[in-house]
Amino acid sequence: MTMMEQLGMRLPIVAAPMAGGPSTPELVTAAARAGGIGFLAAGYKSPEQLAEQIDQVSAATDRFGVNLFAPTPVRIGAEAYADYRRRLEPWALHYGVSLPESPAEDDDRWEEKLAVLEEHPVSAVSVTFGLPSSTDIRRLQRTGAAVLQTVTTVTEAEHADIAGADALIIQSHEAGGHSGTWTPAAPPAPVELEEMLLHIRAATDLPLWAAGGISTPDRVREVRAAGAEAAVVGTILLRTGESGANPVHQEALAAADREATIITSAFSGRPARALENEFAAALTGVAPLGFPALHHLTAPLRRAAAAAGDPEGLNLWAGTGWRDASPGPAEELLRRLGS
Ligand SMILES: Cc1cc2nc3c(=O)[nH]c(=O)nc-3n(C[C@H](O)[C@H](O)[C@H](O)COP(=O)(O)O)c2cc1C
Repeated sequence: MTMMEQLGMRLPIVAAPMAGGPSTPELVTAAARAGGIGFLAAGYKSPEQLAEQIDQVSAATDRFGVNLFAPTPVRIGAEAYADYRRRLEPWALHYGVSLPESPAEDDDRWEEKLAVLEEHPVSAVSVTFGLPSSTDIRRLQRTGAAVLQTVTTVTEAEHADIAGADALIIQSHEAGGHSGTWTPAAPPAPVELEEMLLHIRAATDLPLWAAGGISTPDRVREVRAAGAEAAVVGTILLRTGESGANPVHQEALAAADREATIITSAFSGRPARALENEFAAALTGVAPLGFPALHHLTAPLRRAAAAAGDPEGLNLWAGTGWRDASPGPAEELLRRLGS
């Protein structure tokens, strides 16, 4: 049985999990109505908020999933943190905020989120940023969920297969937001989805879903012809009526004068693709790795920039297909992409 059949999907289209606001329960429900599946983003949320969102979506559909950040934080030394904090001082002054003195490390409350999923089971759980232990994968599977592992290389795919994942989400460098890479020091290589699918198919029999820069019905057909069961889309949904993306972010995606996206760890300490803005242009070359410490360090700046309506200090996550993101109902858009 394919993963699509197992999950009862009628369309080969997946609303990607997008942490930080965009993936609302309404967006996830719209994906199910379209005949595909959507994922809630557990990242950064408290276990209570996650449970609440699961209950909200469960009231409308049981065809949805939850995405987790694997418990694989990237530590940063006190000195590197202090250096970067110093570089951010002019920005802090500009926005009138103060920045956290010392690195805040956490694992996004992994254990507590597993417990939430045991109490509020869902049909699919996807994981990014690393591979959970086989024990935790089995624990999730015992809740009745299919476990989908995000991978960015053939090696990651092989490890995920051995660890017992039920399916793989192959994410290319074109994807918006954080790369799921397990090795943040090596940025995602510029390899096309077709090539990734070819090499990963040779290494595993698991069902494969494809993510990264997919923004047109033709592109969905192409990745399916190359062996993907379904296409996973994120950026294209950011301006829909159901998206919870910050309005400043949505406006920047629509602005005619944005020219490019870049991969940067300047906002969060992990590589992520974003629209180029002043903050990314100034700091991408000097930012150290350190997640979630840098996420917390830049949070006051990003909050102040959003409140001021200033896109230049905000993490404008976007994949390479950002120009196709348009307003309108998500259900309609997903139907159009997947049919
Ligand atoms: C705003 C935003 C937030 C994201 N947050 C997450 C997340 O929490 N977990 C995750 O696995 N992937 C996350 N991603 C990546 C998506 O799941 C997906 O791989 C990506 O959006 C696909 O590429 P596209 O944006 O070009 O469609 C995020 C992407 C965006 C644009």
